[in-house]
Amino acid sequence: MKIDGKKYRSIWAEPDGKTVGIIDQTRLPHSFVTIPLKSRDDAAIAIEDMWVRGAPLIGATAAYGMALAMQKDASDEALGRAYDILHATRPTAINLKWALDEVVGHLLPLPADQRIAAAWTLAAQICDRDVDTNHAIGKHGVDIIRNIATRKAPGDPVNILTHCNAGWLATVDWGTATSPIYQAHDMGLPVHVWVDETRPRNQGASLTSWELGRHGVNHTLIVDNSGGHLMQHGKVDLCIVGSDRTTASGDVCNKIGTYLKALAARDNGVPFYVALPSTTVDWTINDGLREIPIEERDGKEVSWVAGKDKDGKETSVLICPETTPVANHAFDVTPSRLVTGLITERGVCSASKAGLAKLFPEKAGSDVMRAV
Ligand code: MRU
Repeated sequence: MKIDGKKYRSIWAEPDGKTVGIIDQTRLPHSFVTIPLKSRDDAAIAIEDMWVRGAPLIGATAAYGMALAMQKDASDEALGRAYDILHATRPTAINLKWALDEVVGHLLPLPADQRIAAAWTLAAQICDRDVDTNHAIGKHGVDIIRNIATRKAPGDPVNILTHCNAGWLATVDWGTATSPIYQAHDMGLPVHVWVDETRPRNQGASLTSWELGRHGVNHTLIVDNSGGHLMQHGKVDLCIVGSDRTTASGDVCNKIGTYLKALAARDNGVPFYVALPSTTVDWTINDGLREIPIEERDGKEVSWVAGKDKDGKETSVLICPETTPVANHAFDVTPSRLVTGLITERGVCSASKAGLAKLFPEKAGSDVMRAV
């Protein structure tokens, strides 16, 4: 997508052939800062400290992290060690493991002297594939928006609620949940987005609002507790969210608070869609509630809020007594029964084993997909 007329992806290989560029997402929306990653450990810190975040972008960064690791040492031992270090950075988004498995599967059979070039090429391919995949998600998702638009008065926008940031910043480009929105906007369909602020880290407020604003998409920031009220009053036509891991049976793990939006949507007859690339499906599990590890992060993310003060200085403030015990669960699971459909790169399907198997028949042979 473009920032001030200049085309950007969220991650790129620098022309020196040795460095990876990223946007430091912890500085948005107030400062646009790019950071060079020069080593495996830089990549691991970037993921762990959420300079980059969002399931597909975490995977892409890990792939480049493997290339950076190979640059220093291309032995089998270094390959395994890089896998372990990068894999340990964040537990929930399955794209991380998917990307690392792709890289190791590709590099391991190669002689060490071919691994550096092969790793850089593969990381770039993983990024390009992510862009194409998200574009395809948008193409399928826009049909849903168009159908709703035909039932509205001419010129009335389709009101879409989204949670967290499943935008281009969470992927390499386009986003997942935002791809149908950008494509609808670009083709002249009137859309308006309700942006959940998404406490505690406020990815909706700081990232989704920023992205949509830069692209000229009509949007309104709301507190996380507003969605139910808006749905009760007919102000939400559709919810589209992303996913960090979706089971083979269609349970969706996404940013904490997604489940509550799905419950409110069901109670109010609002369609609730999840946009995801197939690399976000964990084909090895069926039961999202029991089998997906939920990341628990530092309580300071809840007790301290970052922002800009009235003098324009970026700062953080404590919003509770210093000694208050805090819990910070980063994700929750929305059971498949609450999901209207999954918007994937191959089309829209029901959130079920049958639905996914129809679109991805090559996965239907896996043990989990075979199990009744
Ligand atoms: O903790 P984050 O910011 O990495 O969480 C991101 C989300 O929950 C996104 O909705 C999800 O990764 C889908 S991104 C296309």
